[in-house]
Amino acid sequence: MNMNPNQGSNDSALDVLILAAGLGTRMRSKKAKVLHELAGRPLINHVCRTAFELGPRKVYVVVGHQADEVRAAVLNELGGDRVEFVSQTQQLGTGDAVNSARSLLENEDSTLLVLSGDVPMIRSATLARLIDIHRTHRSHGAACTILTVEFNDPTGYGRIVRDVGGQFDHIIEQKDASDEQRAITEINAGIYCFQTRKLFEALSQVRNENAQGEYYLTDVPAILSEAGEDVAIYLHNEAREIEGVNNRKQLAELEHVLRERAVSRLMLDHGVTFIDPKSSYVSESAVAGSDTIIHPNVTIEGATAIGEGCVIRSGSRLTNAKIGDRVEILDNTVIVDSTVGDDCIVGPFAHLRGKAVMLDNAKVGNFVELKKTTLGRGSKANHLTYLGDATIGEDTNIGAGTITCNYDGRNKNPTTIGSGVKIGSDTMLVAPIEVGDGAVTAAGAVVIEDVPADSLVAGVPAKVKKSLGEAKAKGDL
Ligand code: UD1
Ligand code: MG
Repeated sequence: MNMNPNQGSNDSALDVLILAAGLGTRMRSKKAKVLHELAGRPLINHVCRTAFELGPRKVYVVVGHQADEVRAAVLNELGGDRVEFVSQTQQLGTGDAVNSARSLLENEDSTLLVLSGDVPMIRSATLARLIDIHRTHRSHGAACTILTVEFNDPTGYGRIVRDVGGQFDHIIEQKDASDEQRAITEINAGIYCFQTRKLFEALSQVRNENAQGEYYLTDVPAILSEAGEDVAIYLHNEAREIEGVNNRKQLAELEHVLRERAVSRLMLDHGVTFIDPKSSYVSESAVAGSDTIIHPNVTIEGATAIGEGCVIRSGSRLTNAKIGDRVEILDNTVIVDSTVGDDCIVGPFAHLRGKAVMLDNAKVGNFVELKKTTLGRGSKANHLTYLGDATIGEDTNIGAGTITCNYDGRNKNPTTIGSGVKIGSDTMLVAPIEVGDGAVTAAGAVVIEDVPADSLVAGVPAKVKKSLGEAKAKGDL
């Protein structure tokens, strides 16, 4: 409870409102702007996550264009707790976007932080500072506090017009600005703190008589200030954080910045060598152990974790991959949602996907695909092979050209291969099928019946020829 009457809104609850309903015409895309990905995640998710770091009571997201997809993107990463979606049926401007949350918020004695879904680089520390300035302004707090920065090239942004005393006067949008106003380099970040009630009172007075025929949220500060309310400005010195994404060029610029940041983090904090840092892509959440060497043109996406002393060769992509220690990933290998144990060798030109698992010391070579398959310790599949829905024991060798025929046109069927097995070149394993420990299949076998342990099968369809003991005795093996 607020015990100090002079404190005004100082310790009021914090809510966040994120504007994300626009299409983003300048992206020239069928996809809503806030769904475009930066560092592998939708723009809106960057902003939502930062908002959550502030520990707000609730985060409201204003959705309109492709509302269902935006909702799904947010829920997918951040879950539904403390997020509420607000619909803006027609995109009549940022003021109208805020207004669509009127019935939910207008009577709240809260601090409302308004963020733009297309300003993804903003840091929570900066927002915390903005909130602090807002709440402590002239000891009783401001009605509105605007985050601003100086840009060498302010083109496209709303400009901050100050009065002769240097205090806030109004915000003028690029399209409504005179040449003189366009020369102003202090811009509106599109990020503000408001006393919630005062925001909604002032919002009722916003008109759409401007170049774009829109209801601008940027008119609210001047309305408040004319009514005698305090409008404060936090001029921030990190221009980069404020860069908005309005077109693909700006998106690519921010991608570059984040990529550089992630690669530097792995080099400096994790002890990873990049032969050519500029050509490698690393996600924000990826980790790697020390003395791992990453060759040019490697893409490391999602929550990939790489162990120590690994080598990753050019042209490889790792997405949500878990890689053990001392693993060699040779050129042009793709590993998605899969796990590789210690001391494994993968590639060149290998593909692991759908929860494939290679246990320690296993080897997967040229043009081999593993899907939903576990390859046991020390087992090898070195050439031209497809292993799907298969479980393979230890020290088994899968010969060149082996295929698990796992799909009968309707269902995916499992293949189980034991330990110490030798699958001959060009064997077709028609699933569901089991091959026992120590068994051997001859080259070109089409195996349609389970193979007993320690037996040799051959032919089309494959038949048990003899027990392995006999075969060895006859010198056939
Ligand atoms: C806005 C500001 C500008 C500021 C800039 C900072 C206004 C009028 N202008 O301009 O002063 O310098 O941000 O990046 O506010 N949105 C809706 N509903 C709408 C319109 C927009 O939800 O009807 C959302 C968009 O999805 C976007 C955000 O609001 O996430 C900002 O809209 P945008 O059109 O990008 O505004 P800017 O022209 O960048
Ligand atoms: Mg914008």
